[in-house]
Amino acid sequence: MPNDVTPPQTVWEPSAKQAEFLSASEYEVLYGGAAGGGKTDGLLVDSMGLQPCAIGEKAHIEKRAYQAIVFRKTFPDLKDIIDRSHEIFRDVEPKAKYDKQAHVWTFPSGARIEFGYIQRDIERLRYRGRAFQYVGWEEVTLWPTSLPYIYLISRIRTTDKTIPCYVRSTTNPDGPGHRWVKDRFQIPNSGIGTCFRVEIIDQETGQKFWRTRRFIPARVSDNPHLGTDYRTSLLMLPGDEQDLLLRGRWDTPQIKGSYWNADIEEARKSGRITAVPHEKGVLVDTWWDIGVDDETAIWFTQTIGHKVNVIDYHHESDKGLPHFQQVLAERSEKLGYRYGRHVGPHDIESREWGTGANRKKQAEALGLYFDVCPRPTDKGAYIDAGRRFLSRCWFDADRTAEGVSALENYRKEWDSDLQTYKRTPLHDWASHGADAFMVLAVKHGHRGDAPFFPTSAQQPAGPDSSDVAIALPGRRARRF
Ligand SMILES: Nc1ncnc2c1ncn2[C@@H]1O[C@H](COP(=O)(O)OP(=O)(O)OP(=O)(O)O)[C@@H](O)[C@H]1O
Ligand SMILES: [Mg+2]
Repeated sequence: MPNDVTPPQTVWEPSAKQAEFLSASEYEVLYGGAAGGGKTDGLLVDSMGLQPCAIGEKAHIEKRAYQAIVFRKTFPDLKDIIDRSHEIFRDVEPKAKYDKQAHVWTFPSGARIEFGYIQRDIERLRYRGRAFQYVGWEEVTLWPTSLPYIYLISRIRTTDKTIPCYVRSTTNPDGPGHRWVKDRFQIPNSGIGTCFRVEIIDQETGQKFWRTRRFIPARVSDNPHLGTDYRTSLLMLPGDEQDLLLRGRWDTPQIKGSYWNADIEEARKSGRITAVPHEKGVLVDTWWDIGVDDETAIWFTQTIGHKVNVIDYHHESDKGLPHFQQVLAERSEKLGYRYGRHVGPHDIESREWGTGANRKKQAEALGLYFDVCPRPTDKGAYIDAGRRFLSRCWFDADRTAEGVSALENYRKEWDSDLQTYKRTPLHDWASHGADAFMVLAVKHGHRGDAPFFPTSAQQPAGPDSSDVAIALPGRRARRF
């Protein structure tokens, strides 16, 4: 460490594995695996850039231009890591100042380390126009999709050639983002380390570039600061959780109680989660779940014969109908969508949307005519309809990534008192996308508001006339 950085009062000595993480020179590094390995401490120390690039060179926090950010998924999640940063950062630099409002540490040089959160993918845009040299993701598998992670890569740049750019993450192997993280770092089930180059081709010039990625596995035994007692606690977990949290294995966990996990897995295996571009000349239908103080989710589909192309997905909280009309209009303008049907949930008729007006009428005033999906008398029948309908769907891997993750994670609620699943689905971030998908499954072949109660015999065997999205009498194309 350079001379003018005050020596630490409490010496933080990296474990051998932490030292490997701190000195890694690859562009993207994931430090992950078993619980308690020292990952969070490792990330905090790493964000200070104490490991100089060359002998005699300053640490990153001694450079005015240095800007780092460390993310957690939600604001409350940040508390623990911020508390720990007070201990670690102050040990290294007692003159560092913390701004509680902005969640930013400023070091005497002017270097800054910020804490941020991105709860929903859309919130990544909060960082538009920002520039960082270090982006850290704490518990990265908690993000269901890679969209925030990839977007923030576009925010990583430097004008000071002595500050290299890095993306660093930590995680346990479980969580809704297990799959994309495992794929991105090519982690085998055994959880052993990986290191590889990724080729990037500039389509305009044909020039080739390389970026490096590395996975450093963490084990509880890496952390000499934890006693054997913690290991004993991990040994009390059920077998599959022991594999993840004690042994740091990366076997894809069964999403417990998931209704459609196997069907999404089947779609993935058979190549139906792929590039599904918007087809010009075919109307786009939209299928909604509407939340008042909650989330609204919208699926966008194009039907071609028996095949349903699920081309897009949008979800957002606490917004009124005019906002969602804008969302549709933007896609129309930028992506060329021309709309066919809009189908909403049963409560579109009864509940109110901000202004106190009947939502369906309010929608009509804005030029959005909704068919209504009846209230399920038997939610199980709707869930079955969703399962059957999945086999007809092709999902665009990028634009519907969050929605597919919601479908995969839609699950039964666990009753911890009775140690069994309840009959009801869990109401969480995944249930809105799933509810909107059930509107699609139930109403796809049925127009108008006529009551419809799905039975196991409901699924049409082949294409039916209403599956053809264009040139149907009575289908009103609405343009924005
Ligand atoms: N090098 C170190 N020096 C002193 N204490 C350490 C060091 N590394 C980790 N610890 C302490 O060990 C405990 C576990 O470390 P940490 O929280 O970083 O592990 P983790 O891998 O992030 O755990 P989890 O999987 O639960 O998120 C913490 O109390 C932390 O402060
Ligand atoms: Mg941790």
